[in-house]
Amino acid sequence: MTIDLPLVVDRESPVPLAVQVAGQLREAMRTGRLRAGERLPSTRGLAALLGVSRTVATDAYQQLYAEGWLDGRHGSGTYVADETLPDETVLPDETAQELAAPARGAVRREQAPPGVVDLRPGRPWVLGYDTVAWRRAWRSAGELALNAFPDPYGHPDLRELLAEHLRRARAVPVGAGNVMVTRGTGNGLDLIAATLLGPGTRAGVEEPGWRAARRIFASRGAEVVPCPVDEQGVIVEALPDDLRVLYTTPAHQFPVGGRLPIPRREKLLAWARRTGAIVVEDDYDAEFRYDVAPLPALYGLDPGRVVLLGTLSKSLGPDVGLGWLVAPAELLDAVAERRTHLADRTSGPVQRAVATLLERGDLDRHLRRMRLEYARRRAAIVEALGPYVRGDTAGLHVMVTLPAGVVPGLVRRAGERGVLLDTTEPHHHGPPRVHGLVLGYGSASRADVRRGCAVIRELIPPEEA
Ligand SMILES: Cc1ncc(COP(=O)(O)O)c(C=O)c1O
Repeated sequence: MTIDLPLVVDRESPVPLAVQVAGQLREAMRTGRLRAGERLPSTRGLAALLGVSRTVATDAYQQLYAEGWLDGRHGSGTYVADETLPDETVLPDETAQELAAPARGAVRREQAPPGVVDLRPGRPWVLGYDTVAWRRAWRSAGELALNAFPDPYGHPDLRELLAEHLRRARAVPVGAGNVMVTRGTGNGLDLIAATLLGPGTRAGVEEPGWRAARRIFASRGAEVVPCPVDEQGVIVEALPDDLRVLYTTPAHQFPVGGRLPIPRREKLLAWARRTGAIVVEDDYDAEFRYDVAPLPALYGLDPGRVVLLGTLSKSLGPDVGLGWLVAPAELLDAVAERRTHLADRTSGPVQRAVATLLERGDLDRHLRRMRLEYARRRAAIVEALGPYVRGDTAGLHVMVTLPAGVVPGLVRRAGERGVLLDTTEPHHHGPPRVHGLVLGYGSASRADVRRGCAVIRELIPPEEA
C-alpha cells in the first residue's frame, strides 16, 4: 500500500532516521494531513517506500504507539488513533455538557474550588473520562452475580485481562496465575507486608519516597530503613544487606522523577539475589511516558525476586479502588492465604466494571487521550519553569528544585494567590536532603497549569533565577 505523504529522510543529518520518520508522521497527524482512522503502511511497506531498514520503520511506529498517536487493531494493521485531543480543550462537548449539569455535582466537588489552582500531586484528570464507556462498564457491573463469593486472587476473567494488559503495556512475561486483583498499590503493599514482615524485620523505602509505604511497613511492625535515591533512582551501593523487603519506584521515582537505568536494575537484582530480599516494584504511573517508550517492568528481569504492584489510581482515579499484585506463584499463594485470614477483598462489581473497560479497549483509548493531554500540560510547566524542572518526561508530576530557604515562603505566598503546592520535605523519613516543589499536573487544566506556573515563576527570588 502507498502513503500519500511526502516523507523524506536525510542521511546526513545527526538526527536518527527513526526519529526523523516519527517526527514527520507526528506532524502530519497533528496538522490533520493524516486523519483519525487512516491506515498506515506496514513496517515493511514503509521501509521499502523510504529505502530504510525495517528496524527504522518499527522504531518510528513504536514511538508513535507509545505516545498514543497510533492504534494497532489486532492483526489488521496500523491506524491513526481516533481519540486524539484538539489542542486547547480536553473535553468532548457532550462530556462538558454533562459535567456542567447539576446531577454531576459530586464530580465537580472533587475539583479545586473556583479560582484555586491545585498543583499538588496525586490526582488524575477525571473530567477526561468517556462517560459513555464509563456508564456501559457500570451497567455491566450491575448485573446480578448470584452466589458470587470473594476469591482472594480476584475474578478469573479480570486476572486474564490484566495479564494480557501487562504483557502488552509493560512487556512482563506474566500469566493470569501470577496476578492478584487488589484495591490498589496501598492494599497490595499492605498484603505483602502482612505476609512477609513483622517485628524484628527491616523494610527499605526510597528516601525521599512514598509516605504511605513507610506507614504501611511500620504498621505491620517492621523497622523502616530509608534508602537514598539520586536523580536516576535508588542507589544500590547504599542498600544494607539485611532488608527483607525493598519498596522502589523504578519506572518513575516518586518524587524525584528519575527512571532506573538498565545496568542499575541488574545491580539491584543481583543485590536482591545475594541478600534474599524481595524487591517491590511500584509501577504507579508507568502508563504515562511522553518521549520514548517505557522501559519494560523490572519484574520481567527476575520474576522470582520482584513483586510488581500496579494501580488504576493514576489512569482512572484513586476512588475506583482497583490494582494488581504480580508475584511468583508460591508467594502469591501465601499472600492469598493471609488475605483470606484478614477478610480482605476487592469488590466484585468494581472488578466486573474494570473487566468491561479492558475488554472493550476503553481503558487503552482513555490512556492514549490522556497521554496527549498530560504531555501538553507537562510541556507548559517546562516552558515556564524549565531550568528548575527535574525528572523524566513521564508521569503526572515533576520536581522543581529550589533552595530549602526559598520553599516555605514561596508555598505560602502562592497559597495566598490561590495556587496550592506540595514540597519534597514531607516525602522524607529523615532530615530532608532534596529540596523543592512536587508539582502535579493531573488534576489542573492546561490553562490552570500555565496560570499556576506563572505565579511560581514570579515568586522565585531574582537571585535564584
Ligand atoms: C508513589 C505512589 N504509588 C502509588 C500510588 C497509588 O496508590 P493506590 O493505588 O493505593 O491509590 C500513589 C498515589 O498517589 C503514589 O504516589
